[in-house]
Amino acid sequence: MPRLAAPALAHMPSFVAALKEGYRRDSLRAEDPGAIAQIEREPQWFLRQVNTPPAHVVLPDGTLGERVLETQLWYVEGDEFLGSVSVRHTLNELLERWGGHIGYAVRPSAQGCGYASTMLAGMLDHVRANLPLDRVMLTVNLKNPASIRVIEKNGGVLIDEVDHPWVEGDRGRRYWIAL
Ligand SMILES: CC(C)(COP(=O)(O)OP(=O)(O)OC[C@H]1O[C@@H](n2cnc3c(N)ncnc32)[C@H](O)[C@@H]1OP(=O)(O)O)[C@@H](O)C(=O)NCCC(=O)NCCS
Repeated sequence: MPRLAAPALAHMPSFVAALKEGYRRDSLRAEDPGAIAQIEREPQWFLRQVNTPPAHVVLPDGTLGERVLETQLWYVEGDEFLGSVSVRHTLNELLERWGGHIGYAVRPSAQGCGYASTMLAGMLDHVRANLPLDRVMLTVNLKNPASIRVIEKNGGVLIDEVDHPWVEGDRGRRYWIAL
């Protein structure tokens, strides 16, 4: 049975295969083949970045922003990588507007199997057990009905609909999930 686990070296060959199949670490940015090749060459370096992220993050507009503390877990079956889910421990002004606490993605070949719904439920349990939060925020593009369904199935309560801050012309929803 799949489970949430800390990203580890044993998962890396499958993680790289997922990237090559079209899995994206960031729904706003495409993966570039050079970056995938570097991850394949230097899996330990990559894992250090995932498990101990740098203090700054390149924002979707290319500027540099403050990175809040974040924990990423991978959904794995044996050593096979299926998807990832991460939680930001706090929000800053930018993330309150868009981004929220929790983000997730499932590799293309594993979509439609209920994994995102289970991953999010598992991450909510992880947050309950490990972080002093009584609710978490999630944001989603209106063009992503599967993710809207995943959030609502996990108890998401709609806050509002807003213009997408990074994708001109798109609209998005912000949700709270009580813990
Ligand atoms: C969105 C995403 C995470 C969904 O992953 P998944 O594992 O396929 O999701 P699940 O199988 O758990 O559930 C999807 C639900 O949406 C429903 N769904 C799928 N496509 C849909 C559509 N076009 N319209 C309405 N509902 C849809 C499914 O029927 C399912 O609901 P159900 O359990 O009631 O049948 C996945 O497509 C993905 O990784 N996309 C790229 C990254 C991304 O968008 N991340 C989320 C950013 S907010």
